[in-house]
Amino acid sequence: MSEPKYSHLIDLNDYPVEWWNKIIRLGATICAHPQRYVQACAGKIMATLFYEPSTRTQMSFQSAMIRLGGSIIGFDNPMSSSVAKGENLKDTTKVVSSYSDILIIRHPTAGAAKAAALTAECPVVNAGDGGHLHPTQTLTDLLTLHMEKGRLEHLTVGLCGDLLYGRTVHSLLKALSCYAGNRFVLISTPELRVPDYIRKLLTDSGCEYREETSLDAAIGELDVLYMTRIQRERFASEAEYLAQKDTYCLTPEKMSHAKADLAVLHPLPRVDEIAIAVDDDARALYFRQAKYGMYVRMALIMKLLESEEHLPVLHGTDDGALHCVNPKCITAKEHYLPQKFLCQHGRTVCEYCEERALPR
Ligand code: NCD
Repeated sequence: MSEPKYSHLIDLNDYPVEWWNKIIRLGATICAHPQRYVQACAGKIMATLFYEPSTRTQMSFQSAMIRLGGSIIGFDNPMSSSVAKGENLKDTTKVVSSYSDILIIRHPTAGAAKAAALTAECPVVNAGDGGHLHPTQTLTDLLTLHMEKGRLEHLTVGLCGDLLYGRTVHSLLKALSCYAGNRFVLISTPELRVPDYIRKLLTDSGCEYREETSLDAAIGELDVLYMTRIQRERFASEAEYLAQKDTYCLTPEKMSHAKADLAVLHPLPRVDEIAIAVDDDARALYFRQAKYGMYVRMALIMKLLESEEHLPVLHGTDDGALHCVNPKCITAKEHYLPQKFLCQHGRTVCEYCEERALPR
């Protein structure tokens, strides 16, 4: 498959930290002076292909493009598109990208954005690929910390809830581990610990981290608390979800043991892991965070549309000896995709989903 090259955003770690920092600084400037950017993308079209439900990611991207003077097309229910007739990801992406200047995709399957980028005729942005990654939520989180804490370094960050399936957690840990002096407290049940590859990444990057089951035990030491929803839709059975739901709930009582300058973040939607009464606490930043998401996406759209950097999508190799056994990987569904494998933190993993590959 010959690969057209554009500036895609599939994983933030495909770019150097300085690239993220530029987007965060531009996001902060746009936030302060939005009127300067009202024509920045005039005449450009953004397509949003949302194969999974979304409120904030989709609408913040859409309002970002409209605020930049551009226009939007797309679907938020694949069953109202030709996907309902059995069209594959390759064909939908190929055609819609030929109508647009930038394509934003959310999909329930890990590696789908990377697969889309292989055939797209414009830059592709990963707006969440299954339980894998969510890089634009991380840009949102980083802009929030930059604006509200004034730094991205030397923070003790607690992440609480569904650390296994929570793609925002994976992207955020990958990013924050690249800034100096950050420490992590990973608060979850044993069943919902972060995936192996994230633990290995933290160890290899030299970050201090510990795993903890009690939010009460950790809250007092945190500068940032990143709460997450238990990802019901990613469990193998309802019974497994029910066994995990309601494990953690941030309450005003718990907040009374936290630092005075704690920042409480949540990618939203909230289900019941933060009591409504916490919303009135000045340390609850999640609604402001959602608004920063729009400004950072304005910055990202501008950056990708003007970028001259054209990165290859696939970096891995395939000697025919390995295969990906992850049923939640896009390669399990779209069989025309070239299998590729990477050596990562001492293990060989599928390039699309980053799960361990096995011999054929
Ligand atoms: C998150 C997502 O879709 O991964 N939401 C978002 O994009 N703001 C978190 C979630 O759904 O729990």
